Amino acid sequence: MDLYEALYTTRAMRRVSTEPVPEDVIQLMLDAAIRAPSGSNMQNWRWLVITDPEKIATVGHLYAEAFDMGMKTVYAGAKERAEAAGDQQSLRVQSSSQWLRDNMANVPLLVVVCDRNDPTGSSIYPAIWNLMLAARGQGVGTTLTTFSSHFRHDETREALGIPAEKGWRVSAIISCGYPTGKWGVAARGPVTDVVFRDHWDNPTGWDVAGPLWSAGSK
Ligand SMILES: Cc1cc2nc3c(=O)[nH]c(=O)nc-3n(C[C@H](O)[C@H](O)[C@H](O)COP(=O)(O)O)c2cc1C
Repeated sequence: MDLYEALYTTRAMRRVSTEPVPEDVIQLMLDAAIRAPSGSNMQNWRWLVITDPEKIATVGHLYAEAFDMGMKTVYAGAKERAEAAGDQQSLRVQSSSQWLRDNMANVPLLVVVCDRNDPTGSSIYPAIWNLMLAARGQGVGTTLTTFSSHFRHDETREALGIPAEKGWRVSAIISCGYPTGKWGVAARGPVTDVVFRDHWDNPTGWDVAGPLWSAGSK
């Protein structure tokens, strides 16, 4: 797959089928993940590949509880606000997020990502993104989730035997599977709104109306 196609179209693919992800594809995802940089090349990461349906159900049910906690606190009122504003994009994200909340217990593959000595996450996120891009290259959809890390951290850790005393923590859970929907370019605000030249608020002078890659681009 073209590098830019992967960069532009790797998105949260929450709705996936129950079709298993082949072992060689899982290997490639993880082997690509650990090629990523980390501060001082410390590689302070561990990856739990979860394919046992019972373990997926356990982790998925904890995620559902964590999601509900998040909706009651951090995202309280978000749905009502999106409805009142007619914000279709937010409503679509909320609907697919709800799908994952209801179905994570049945997806074919979860990757539970653990790190230590990385309070900012800056040494784990490049590797997570490598995993997601590698999955994209194989047609596997992924969703980076963090609700469990905030609201069901210790329960998830204990369910998987992750040793807390060595400083390991669950940084994210990546839900994976073959998408039931279509890939598309990730919707974002225009690049010219968020990039300045030489000084804060100085425009770049670029005339860029939309994504510089699209299906059919060379
Ligand atoms: C740090 C981080 C945490 C996230 N946590 C969750 C999560 O817990 N559940 C979820 O469904 N999506 C989660 N997402 C996915 C985002 O909601 C998603 O990437 C964003 O809405 C953009 O959508 P798109 O990737 O489809 O363009 C997370 C993304 C990031 C970067």
